[in-house]
Amino acid sequence: MDEFFFLLLLAAGLKALQIEGPSGPLVVQLGGDVVLPCYTQDPVPLEGLRVEWRSDSDSEESLVNVFQQNEIRSDLQSPAFRGRVNFFPDQISRGNFSIFLSNIRTEDAGVYSCKVYTDQDSSETTVEIKDIERFVVIGAHHPAVASVGEEVILNCSVDSHIPIHLLEEVTWTKHPDILVLLFQENETLSEASSDRYQGRAEFFSSEIPRGNFSLRLKDVRLEDTGEFICAAHAADLSAQTTVLIQQMGFSSLQKCILVLCFIASSLAFGLGIPVSILLWKEATTRRVLAMYLLQAFCPNLCMFIGFVLWSKEGLLNEVVVCAAVIFARPLILMKTAPYLNTLPERLVKEVKRLGFPLHCIIIMMAVFSVEFAHYEEGTFGLFESSTMLITIALLSVGAVVSAKYACRTFSFLCLVLCNIDLLIMSLHSESTESPAMVTATSSFVVGMVLLFSLQRHVFQLKPFTRLHIGLLSAVVAVACIFLTACSVFVGIYLGNFVNTWKFQFTAGIYIILWVALVLVVRRQHKNNKDRFCAKWRGLGYMCCAVLISISILANGLLYVYYIKDNMKSKDSSGYLAVMALLHIVPPGSLFVHPRKIPKIPHFILYMFGASGLSIVTSLTLATELILKGGTGGQTLPEMHVIILPFESLYIVVWLCLQIHDFWMRKKDRIKRNFEDGEEAEPQAAAEGTELETPLTKTPKP
Ligand SMILES: *[C@@H]1O[C@H](CO)[C@@H](O)[C@H](O)[C@H]1NC(C)=O
Ligand SMILES: *[C@@H]1O[C@H](CO)[C@@H](O)[C@H](O)[C@H]1NC(C)=O
Ligand SMILES: *[C@@H]1O[C@H](CO)[C@@H](O)[C@H](O)[C@H]1NC(C)=O
Ligand SMILES: *[C@@H]1O[C@H](CO)[C@@H](O)[C@H](O)[C@H]1NC(C)=O
Repeated sequence: MDEFFFLLLLAAGLKALQIEGPSGPLVVQLGGDVVLPCYTQDPVPLEGLRVEWRSDSDSEESLVNVFQQNEIRSDLQSPAFRGRVNFFPDQISRGNFSIFLSNIRTEDAGVYSCKVYTDQDSSETTVEIKDIERFVVIGAHHPAVASVGEEVILNCSVDSHIPIHLLEEVTWTKHPDILVLLFQENETLSEASSDRYQGRAEFFSSEIPRGNFSLRLKDVRLEDTGEFICAAHAADLSAQTTVLIQQMGFSSLQKCILVLCFIASSLAFGLGIPVSILLWKEATTRRVLAMYLLQAFCPNLCMFIGFVLWSKEGLLNEVVVCAAVIFARPLILMKTAPYLNTLPERLVKEVKRLGFPLHCIIIMMAVFSVEFAHYEEGTFGLFESSTMLITIALLSVGAVVSAKYACRTFSFLCLVLCNIDLLIMSLHSESTESPAMVTATSSFVVGMVLLFSLQRHVFQLKPFTRLHIGLLSAVVAVACIFLTACSVFVGIYLGNFVNTWKFQFTAGIYIILWVALVLVVRRQHKNNKDRFCAKWRGLGYMCCAVLISISILANGLLYVYYIKDNMKSKDSSGYLAVMALLHIVPPGSLFVHPRKIPKIPHFILYMFGASGLSIVTSLTLATELILKGGTGGQTLPEMHVIILPFESLYIVVWLCLQIHDFWMRKKDRIKRNFEDGEEAEPQAAAEGTELETPLTKTPKP
């Protein structure tokens, strides 16, 4: 009997109290909740039951929670756990002594013990909270105070269980979505920063391993006012915080720009009234002329200086393009001025011929230099950029020289080609087919030179002097040298020897064609010119007209293609505006300077150009400056999106006046021819475009 009792006791004892816990350490999330399991399979009577949860996370041991005498003794809890821990009261009677720990902190990591005492027995289990997963980004406690031109530190710390070098990325963005600085896969990618923050933003690289991603922002600008967001991403976790830069006052530079804007608009407005009265009366004394010029130049000069100063604040392309447009504006104003003929004669001649080509080239150079500046950011290869540079330089010189010698068609073509080059450059910035492009461009140039020489000297029988031969030989020679240089470059640097023969071959063909042309023209000039002339002149004009149409068409198509290509990216509107202007200006150099323009439209147009454009420009700049200071965001689109359409409008209206004048003259001529009882000559149609010398000079059979 005794033995039986003993065995029973033993069985009960074995069974008595077996406390179980989790099978392994627990991984929890910072700020999250966790159940720390502790249970026995067999229910235990509540009489005499005591459950003690202790933590020995740190050196000292502390009571987490206690269940005693049928109640939960929250009063015994150590303060660190007060209010965060509880049993499941309805589960205790079922032998489930698990606790629920909420709002987990970093200090909660460690080993917990669950001790259960009954009247006869006691047992315990341990639970380990091993990793506390955390992923928080902590920003600044208060808004940062900055003043223009100084430097400011924006606090941001990433506190994470993930080692810093395994973070996917940490980004600083300026509200709404301008990338300020990017840290990706243990590397700071400062090239990725937006233009506005290039070179101005950096991390403290020695602090990064500690999770300190504070941003050092140098040379603070007005537009930096506002929210900056520091965000971290890793696997499927992400967190962010916002840091504010408080509004700042205007710096002295900005006050200076505002004053310039004010001066420019008051000059434009103040001088505009007397000038318009005098101009209407057609007064042209010396004093009045000085006043006209003052009105045309001074506001633009102020705005030019304003934009140069703005270069510290604004985007590169915005500043350069606007400054160039303002710089070139007086040229166009002179060209369209109603008082042009009262200025010194030499100046008048140059302005009439060179106004439009120079205007176009100045803006083109600005656009090109901006594109070229992007070369550093790896958009273009050195080869593309330098061939473009050479091509555009040659074409610009060609445009000016031919405009100077009254070859307007040729000048126009050079400008159109420049445009095509610029477009190609922005379309295929990483084109690998640049050798083909080079050949195509140079063929186009040389082909045009040859065809126009043919047209001018063979069909029109213009004199073919040493000057012409020299000039055009130079063009052909430069093209050939250029091609040879290309073949060397392609051969050596790109290691592409297979295609280099094409360059030499093309160059050879140019030379042969050129020599043939010179021979033909010389020979033909020696022979009886009159007979030849009358028969073929019409054909020559046809050729000319067809070529011009083709190049205008090509240009237009390319532009449409470009627009389509760029509609997707939203910040290309500035470039579209520039390109539109650049496509409108070249036709201006195609027409002879008009002789008679209706007075009222001419007057209105000029006043709009001289005063209106300056006022628009200065208001735009001032608004931009004030808005940037106020909200910190860039509230206007790029400024040239506003300024350039007005400029384009001005030039379009002028073009209409030119075309109107051309049309009137053509009508007059046909009428005169009929009154003389003669047939209208076919060349009359193209006279305005190619010839300044009147037709009467050409001999009649
Ligand atoms: C103990 O109770 C908690 C809360 O109801 C539950 O999540 C857990 O699964 C229970 N444990 C056992 C072993 O029944
Ligand atoms: C940035 O952090 C440093 C160190 O923690 C602190 O002294 C400073 O006040 C913080 N700056 C802001 C703007 O919160
Ligand atoms: C991360 O970058 C730091 C600094 O460039 C370097 O010291 C560290 O070794 C890198 N860590 C890894 C895992 O590549
Ligand atoms: C991060 O490091 C910089 C430079 O040492 C220090 O100025 C800044 O206070 C640090 N930020 C934090 C939050 O510790």
